[in-house]
Amino acid sequence: MNLIAVDGPGGAGKSTVSRKLAERLGWLHLDTGAYYRAATLAALRAGVDLEDEDEVLEVVKLLRLRQEHGLMLLNGEAVSEEIRSAEVTAAASTVAAHGRVRAVIVRQQRQWVAGQKQPVVVEGRDIGTVVFPAAELKIWLEASESERVRRRAEETGQPEEEVEGDLARRDHADASRAASPSRPAADAIRLDTTNLGVEAVVARIVQMLPVDEVFRPPV
Ligand code: DC
Repeated sequence: MNLIAVDGPGGAGKSTVSRKLAERLGWLHLDTGAYYRAATLAALRAGVDLEDEDEVLEVVKLLRLRQEHGLMLLNGEAVSEEIRSAEVTAAASTVAAHGRVRAVIVRQQRQWVAGQKQPVVVEGRDIGTVVFPAAELKIWLEASESERVRRRAEETGQPEEEVEGDLARRDHADASRAASPSRPAADAIRLDTTNLGVEAVVARIVQMLPVDEVFRPPV
């Protein structure tokens, strides 16, 4: 097995779970949301109209996006912190809705995975459906809306009332867009994390793996 796809809406636990899972297995981890965030940062810096796909594409097609040692690099510049800003977070779903922009970004994500010697846990929204539809294990993480709001508020330090509207709006935008909408692949295993801790979720996923994957020696 070379790849596990972990998809799901915001606050379902994708990032924490997929990072821990990769650590547990000695695999690499790819955060595809960081690519959309970095592309959004570049578009904001360039001052283009984010709703205009042609303008955004002009910026994005010239970018070198890659992840190295867990850092997101935008043309070689580490932007991991900057892409977590409220401004980038709010704008990313607009950029991620453009199909031709996605195509440019997805190509760089596939190239990254193809260039690795180790297997990878890839987290996102469209990994099981579009980016790696042949992934042997696809997990769709979900959680109740109130729990997802609670987690996001804890993570960002914002009040729940503020988080609630934003999360719902972004999830709706991600799930209803025409290009690669966020949804579970037909063969994804759905895991409700509302009442489960991170370790318990990771343990359940590990149990789904063939035993030789769990004890594979490091490369
Ligand atoms: O997971 P995240 O919050 O870092 O994602 C940022 C934005 O990118 C969010 O609007 C969802 C979108 N995204 C996407 O469309 N496809 C992915 N594979 C990952 C994220």
